[in-house]
Amino acid sequence: MAYRNRNWYAISNLDIVLLPVLFLMASSVAAESLPKACEFPAIFNFGDSNSDTGGLSAAFGQAPPPNGETYFGHPSGRYSDGRLLVDFIAESLGLPLLCAYLNSIGTNFSHGANFATAGSTIRRQNTTLFQSGYSPFSLDVQTWQFTQFKSRSQFVYSQGGVFRDLLPNEEYFSKALYTFDIGQNDLTAGYFLGMTTEEVKENIPDILDQFAVAIKTIYWQGGRYFWIHNTGPFGCLPYVLDRLTLRASEVDHNGCGIPFNGVAQLFNSMLNDTVIQLRKELPLASFTYVDIYSNKYELISHAKKYGFEDPLIACCGYGGAYNYNKTIGCGSKTVVNGTEIILADSCKDPLKRINWDGVHYTQAANNWVFGQISQGAFSDPPLPIIMACYNQTA
Ligand SMILES: *[C@@H]1O[C@H](CO)[C@@H](O)[C@H](O)[C@H]1NC(C)=O
Ligand SMILES: *[C@@H]1O[C@H](CO)[C@@H](O)[C@H](O)[C@H]1NC(C)=O
Ligand SMILES: *[C@@H]1O[C@H](CO)[C@@H](O)[C@H](O)[C@H]1NC(C)=O
Ligand SMILES: *[C@@H]1O[C@H](CO)[C@@H](O)[C@H](O)[C@H]1NC(C)=O
Ligand SMILES: *[C@@H]1O[C@H](CO)[C@@H](O)[C@H](O)[C@H]1NC(C)=O
Repeated sequence: MAYRNRNWYAISNLDIVLLPVLFLMASSVAAESLPKACEFPAIFNFGDSNSDTGGLSAAFGQAPPPNGETYFGHPSGRYSDGRLLVDFIAESLGLPLLCAYLNSIGTNFSHGANFATAGSTIRRQNTTLFQSGYSPFSLDVQTWQFTQFKSRSQFVYSQGGVFRDLLPNEEYFSKALYTFDIGQNDLTAGYFLGMTTEEVKENIPDILDQFAVAIKTIYWQGGRYFWIHNTGPFGCLPYVLDRLTLRASEVDHNGCGIPFNGVAQLFNSMLNDTVIQLRKELPLASFTYVDIYSNKYELISHAKKYGFEDPLIACCGYGGAYNYNKTIGCGSKTVVNGTEIILADSCKDPLKRINWDGVHYTQAANNWVFGQISQGAFSDPPLPIIMACYNQTA
């Protein structure tokens, strides 16, 4: 029984809403092996700007103010006014916010590392960051960085002293939660490079093959607990709506682009199939597939009901129908009468807004989505994140 050998918290520590899940599980496993909360000592994250906590900023220049204004009070390497989903995940597991692997200043990797960078894709792109805006740190590169991080950190850790306070213990690698949020940029890159919707769809199997390769690379190095976000409704994002043209019949009642969201949904259903296949091939792993799409789409569709407004308008931006202009990104400055000012500045109340800068979500939206997904209601299997170490062979 896989549940027996772990350090679980007492049942009384669990949220009351978990109890139905516990009873369900109890019917299939012996009473003494009831699933209880995991103790993840670390998180290793892979992804794009949806979970970048400083990678692209470290390599290519800081995400400027007003990024970070709501929570950090200064830019924090995140493309948001505050915390991202991966930050809420870390907090909920009682772990510090993740430092970016690429960040060489003031970093502490004792409880994990973040390999995500804004603009990352699963597949290597054939254009540079300067041509197309896509990051050179595609998912395969992120897994090479992880491989180096694992071996080199252990060499340094073994030297003792302060390094033991800054790097993970070796056993953390097999006990850690490995989180993934990547794929959106592979789909938008296709469109921005001039592909039709059909052509973008034809690329999805290859994109997911590469995704599976990355997961296996981590599994063979001892990773076991995988938490995988599907991709969001990018057809509702200003940067897509502003840059790509749609016929009136291709816009839904929320103002979102139907073909783009259709591509996201096809990607998600094939991602689900990929995860099902990975469960068969990697039986010692626990995979949780998390439906982010439905939550973000629900929030955008019923913004008012949840206390938000203007779901399709960027909070931080300048001009155009969506307060978004590719050449005047959030934080862009201009000189007025001899004084430099931020031209694309924050809106009055980011706490009431969903979209931050035309591409990314506000902290308030991320917090709302985390509240929806944290207890398992949108996960397969439907377990809370604190139980993502369930073992499928149990
Ligand atoms: C990059 O170019 C190679 C060779 O033409 C091609 O096989 C590959 O699919 C391209 N990658 C992307 C992401 O378009
Ligand atoms: C790194 O972070 C951990 C956890 O927050 C902390 O215990 C440790 O003291 C930190 N290391 C240093 C050198 O500050
Ligand atoms: C994933 O696919 C399986 C098998 O087709 C299906 O039963 C399940 O509902 C799917 N999960 C999601 C989240 O779509
Ligand atoms: C975006 O900004 C540029 C530079 O100011 C301007 O030329 C262009 O018309 C703007 N685009 C839109 C859609 O407003
Ligand atoms: C810039 O200066 C001119 C002349 O003093 C003034 O009319 C204008 O309102 C000023 N513009 C701004 C944005 O302050």
